[in-house]
Amino acid sequence: MNDSNQPMQDIAHLGNVELLTPQPSRSLWYFRDILGMEIVHYGAQSVYLRGYGDYATSTLKLTEAKQPGVGCISWRTSSAAALARRAAAIEAAGLGIGWTEGDFGRGRAYRFRDPDGHRMEVYYEETPYRAADHLRSTLKNLPMKYTGRGVGVRRIDHLALLADDVCANRKFAQELLGFQLREQVLYQRGTQEIGSWLSPSPVHHQVAYVKDVRGARGRLHHFSLWVDNREDVLRAASIITEAGVFIEAGPSMHNNSQGFYLYTYEPGGNRVEIYSGSYLVFAPDWKPVTWNEEERGTGVYWGGALPESFLTYATPDVEQDTANQPVKVPVFDPS
Ligand SMILES: [Fe+2]
Repeated sequence: MNDSNQPMQDIAHLGNVELLTPQPSRSLWYFRDILGMEIVHYGAQSVYLRGYGDYATSTLKLTEAKQPGVGCISWRTSSAAALARRAAAIEAAGLGIGWTEGDFGRGRAYRFRDPDGHRMEVYYEETPYRAADHLRSTLKNLPMKYTGRGVGVRRIDHLALLADDVCANRKFAQELLGFQLREQVLYQRGTQEIGSWLSPSPVHHQVAYVKDVRGARGRLHHFSLWVDNREDVLRAASIITEAGVFIEAGPSMHNNSQGFYLYTYEPGGNRVEIYSGSYLVFAPDWKPVTWNEEERGTGVYWGGALPESFLTYATPDVEQDTANQPVKVPVFDPS
């Protein structure tokens, strides 16, 4: 591969996700007691959490808000120089907001919006995590001990964002963030881009952009947390059901991404996925896999069909008739 084809590797991985919740106490109960995440810090209107396998100090920020949705999505760069390069490129593209001094666990960051309006930032400096004595693992290479509380999610995995224009956001992620396109759903002989799955790391996808059938902007479809195997997903289904939390779909297996999934709504209203399986991608010259209407179907490889809410509900929720120009729900109508 010559220099002109050298992949840009300025972004290392998804670092932190801020979820907005109108039910902060109940959401905290869900992530701490049911999913088993650990609280590491309290802010003015936010609580900072982590999975036991996350190397970062905090990977989830729960912030009280009037409506559910996603707040700031933080991407760690591969170096300080990469941070400067990405900030300059994003600013030149007219999407920049500006520098901040950073948030709990992280150094200064450059904030921006993707073309659909989702708030994001890039940062490099990371405060090393040191577990409190009662959370220290006897395993030297485990950042924090496995507490066995609830589902016991290991780490954050990915986000699925809705977008009015999937193509524009996918190009933004490829060209300005250097993400590799892994899979796509293209309808009408490849002319209608319904969804694109992208990643800056070997993790299959760390962000997905999927068509917002309501024609709204800046919405979250789901936030995904990783468990080590399928049995953990099945166990999660029992734990979540016993806790009286709504399960929307699964456990089942997707065709694209090969993900083994369980979708729930946390009490604030955001859709949360408990996720395993999938596959890693190591090829520097990966050729994106594309799916058409017939091949994609409802996105289910096996298991029950996804309910209509999976296509129409996202956070914040919007009414069909108050959105710009509702488009026909495409997934259930391959004609
Ligand atoms: Fe997902």
